[in-house]
Amino acid sequence: MGDGEIGTGNEASGAKLSVRIWRGARQGEFVRYQVPRHVSQTVLDVVTYVQRVLDPTLAYRFACRVGMCGSCAMTVNGVARWTCRTHVDKVAREGRLEVAPLRNLPVIRDLVTDMREFFDKWARAQGRFRGGATRHEDVARIRPDSAARMQVEAGIECIGCGVCYASCDVVARNPDYLGPAALNRAWTLVNDVRDIARTDRLRAVAGDAGCHACHTQMGCTERCPKNIAPTASIAGLKRETARAALRGEW
Ligand code: SF4
Ligand code: SF4
Ligand code: FES
Repeated sequence: MGDGEIGTGNEASGAKLSVRIWRGARQGEFVRYQVPRHVSQTVLDVVTYVQRVLDPTLAYRFACRVGMCGSCAMTVNGVARWTCRTHVDKVAREGRLEVAPLRNLPVIRDLVTDMREFFDKWARAQGRFRGGATRHEDVARIRPDSAARMQVEAGIECIGCGVCYASCDVVARNPDYLGPAALNRAWTLVNDVRDIARTDRLRAVAGDAGCHACHTQMGCTERCPKNIAPTASIAGLKRETARAALRGEW
């Protein structure tokens, strides 16, 4: 496939955006398209135009278009972003845009990455709630201003988009590293007073590929579209795993 310009030739007159989109899998190349500009146009709008009007074989992923599902993340001009909430005006450089799949994940095709290892790491970090209460017990009452609940609050809105994971240089160097999203999830559960797997979870994140591998470079925190700070969650895990080890909990 050549790096030629592709357009329908019948778009509405007006400004055009020159967009280069990754085509292929691990092996591939950027293909250039001309897309009409619109007010309030998002990067996802641009990719959707290319797929619907210029080339129906383009593979990409999205669902909600309102920043809830986490499926539309891509690399935009070299930076991982959620594309449905990223306006072209904010990121285009001199009317140009380059869209590629997320870094640090295998590419299935074009802009679609294989998220299995990302979510497998959530499982490795024990990112699943394990309650101990039965239906016969009263519902737990958690004070919203309690210290533990406020720690949970800081990380609970994660949408699993993978932007932090794609922005982490430690993941790039060490593919075994659990990464910021899985560790942030573990931290929310460590602070959930209803959960009974705290020690198992701390043990799961304490190994060489866990929280202590984080170099605190903040890439995840700077990039998270939900303003979550995985770096702070990981710092909490470092502290609690060290305390648990000192107490001889494993
Ligand atoms: S703070 Fe840690 S997890 Fe976040 S990007 Fe940096 S090394 Fe990765
Ligand atoms: S922590 Fe933020 S960037 Fe990372 S997966 Fe969750 S929402 Fe996305
Ligand atoms: S399409 Fe759901 S978060 Fe972007």
